[in-house]
Amino acid sequence: MPQPSIRDGVMRRLTVADRTGLRDHLLRLDEQSRRSRFGMEASDDFLAAYAQRCFGIDDVIYGFVVEGVVRAAGELRGIGHNLPLGLGANAEAAFSVDGAWRRQGLGAQLMGRIVRAARNRRARTLYMACLANNEPMLRLARKFSADLRFEPQTADGKIAPLAPTTATILDEAADDVAGFATAMMDLRRRSFAM
Ligand SMILES: CC(C)(COP(=O)(O)OP(=O)(O)OC[C@H]1O[C@@H](n2cnc3c(N)ncnc32)[C@H](O)[C@@H]1OP(=O)(O)O)[C@@H](O)C(=O)NCCC(=O)NCCS
Repeated sequence: MPQPSIRDGVMRRLTVADRTGLRDHLLRLDEQSRRSRFGMEASDDFLAAYAQRCFGIDDVIYGFVVEGVVRAAGELRGIGHNLPLGLGANAEAAFSVDGAWRRQGLGAQLMGRIVRAARNRRARTLYMACLANNEPMLRLARKFSADLRFEPQTADGKIAPLAPTTATILDEAADDVAGFATAMMDLRRRSFAM
C-alpha cells in the first residue's frame, strides 16, 4: 500500500473537542510504539484513561489531522505541579505518529511547535521520555540543537529550552490563529458532508 501523503492534512493545536481523536490515535499505536511513547506497557484501558486526562489547563497539544482523524500528536505539559507551566516549571514533551505516516517529517514539525511552546512558557527543563535509546527521537533532538541545550551524554532526555523571543511568541500566536481557522473550516465541511 502506498504511504499516505502529509499534503492531505493540517498541523494544528488540538483542543478538548479532539479528545476522542487523540485517544483513537494512541489506540492505533502498536505495542513497541506504546512502549516508546509511554516508557512502559500501555493497555487500551490505560490509553483511554490517559486521553481522558489530557487537555488540562497547562497542556499544549498539537496534532496532525487528516479529514478529522488525528494521525500524529506532540504534547507538552508541566510536571511537578509546584508551578504553573508559564512560571518556569519543568515540562515534559512526548510525540507519537501513526505508523503509516512516519518518516515524512511530522515528528520534526511537531517537535518544532512543542519546543517553541516550551520556550514561550519559560519551561526550565524539558524532559523527553526514551530519548537515550530512541534513534528517531535522538535525530529529532539534534535537529533542534539551535533551540535546545541538548546533552546527549546525560541520556535521560533532559533538555533546557532557550528563552522566548518576540519572534517565537508571535510565531506561536499566528500558528494558533491559523490552526483555529482551519479546524473551524474542517468542522463546517464535515457537518455539511453529514
Ligand atoms: C519518534 C516519532 C514520533 C518520529 O516521527 P516521524 O514522523 O517518523 O519523524 P520524522 O519523519 O520527523 O523523522 C525524524 C528523524 O528520525 C529519523 N527516523 C525516523 N524513523 C526512523 C527509524 N525507524 N530509524 C532511524 N531513524 C528514523 C528520520 O530519518 C529523521 O531524521 P533525519 O531528518 O535526520 O533523516 C515516531 O517514530 C513515533 O511515533 N514513534 C513511537 C513513539 C515514540 O517513540 N515517541 C517518542 C517518545 S515520547
